[in-house]
Amino acid sequence: MTSLPSADQVRARITGPALQRALDQFAVQQPDRADFVTAADRIRRDAAYTARVAAVVGQLRAGMGRLLTPHQAFLPAVFDPQDPREPLEARFFYPVAFAATLPDTLAFHRSRAIPDSASRAVLADLGRHLRIFERTFGHTGLHVQNWFSLHLRGLIYDFGRLQANLERLDAPASDVRAAGVPVVTGSVVAGVHIPDSGPLRPSDVDASLHRIRPFFARHFPELPPVSVAQCDSWLLDEQLLDLVPGSNIARFCARWQPIGRPADGDESVRNFVFRRPYADPADLTASTRLEHAVLAHWRAGGHLHTRTGWLQLPSGSAD
Ligand SMILES: CC(C)(COP(=O)(O)OP(=O)(O)OC[C@H]1O[C@@H](n2cnc3c(N)ncnc32)[C@H](O)[C@@H]1OP(=O)(O)O)[C@@H](O)C(=O)NCCC(=O)NCCS
Repeated sequence: MTSLPSADQVRARITGPALQRALDQFAVQQPDRADFVTAADRIRRDAAYTARVAAVVGQLRAGMGRLLTPHQAFLPAVFDPQDPREPLEARFFYPVAFAATLPDTLAFHRSRAIPDSASRAVLADLGRHLRIFERTFGHTGLHVQNWFSLHLRGLIYDFGRLQANLERLDAPASDVRAAGVPVVTGSVVAGVHIPDSGPLRPSDVDASLHRIRPFFARHFPELPPVSVAQCDSWLLDEQLLDLVPGSNIARFCARWQPIGRPADGDESVRNFVFRRPYADPADLTASTRLEHAVLAHWRAGGHLHTRTGWLQLPSGSAD
């Protein structure tokens, strides 16, 4: 049985030492830390906001450890990330709701014998994304609340250079067969993600991939072996092999076998490469090899794509 927390329980979780513990677990840096605390204080004093936080905690509790579809897990936007006039309690509504959920997430981790170091490693992604938000929009906040539903529901973990979550292979059966994937649509696979945390050295990627299968076998023993990884990313666009030949990115791209058709990835590249998702490409400037290649590609009328790909996970070594 899952339940909604009471308003008092929410308030206790977003104030004083409990809030400080959450800020530490989430590795929140300045100036986000000060804004987070201010937002928590305003939310705690406002009955309507506190009730909205309680509803989010209830939703995340109900989905704890469950492989939900994006539709089932959906957390609606509460502010416009491009508008610096949005109040702090809106810009930090989800971070505060995540602080209020954290004790449930940590209890779930403990129930699965996830070491504290693994909890900290994955939860620190929130602090990283708060910094990315400011780099992107020029003011503080967080708009990728749906991404963090995976963290707070105990489905995603950090494997060094990569992160991976439990999810179902959701491509149409015909695409899965055509791509030669050795498991069927609906099977549990590892969704692989590449955090913005420095170079993507092939040896670090190898080391991460080796850790994924044994980790899920140990901590989620009721699941069949997680033998396949899928990745959905602009990094899997085969055009990158020619745009940045010989690079870490090209070598990462070449590991994956594509499933289905490419999708439009220009906005994704504006976001992950230029950190200007809504910019007109004519306003972007290049300093790195990738940026020069991408801008030249766009100027020549080309587009970039996101791609889904799969690979077989090594049986690995225990972490
Ligand atoms: C994926 C990532 C880690 C690759 O970084 P990397 O290992 O340094 O990449 P490479 O060594 O292959 O880079 C080749 C060239 O492209 C540049 N480059 C790579 N990623 C870049 C980025 N995100 N923005 C701008 N330039 C980038 C590098 O600086 C290098 O150019 P240089 O020789 O002029 O310095 C990096 O792009 C990144 O952090 N991206 C954000 C996270 C992300 O995109 N995740 C996937 C989301 S679906």
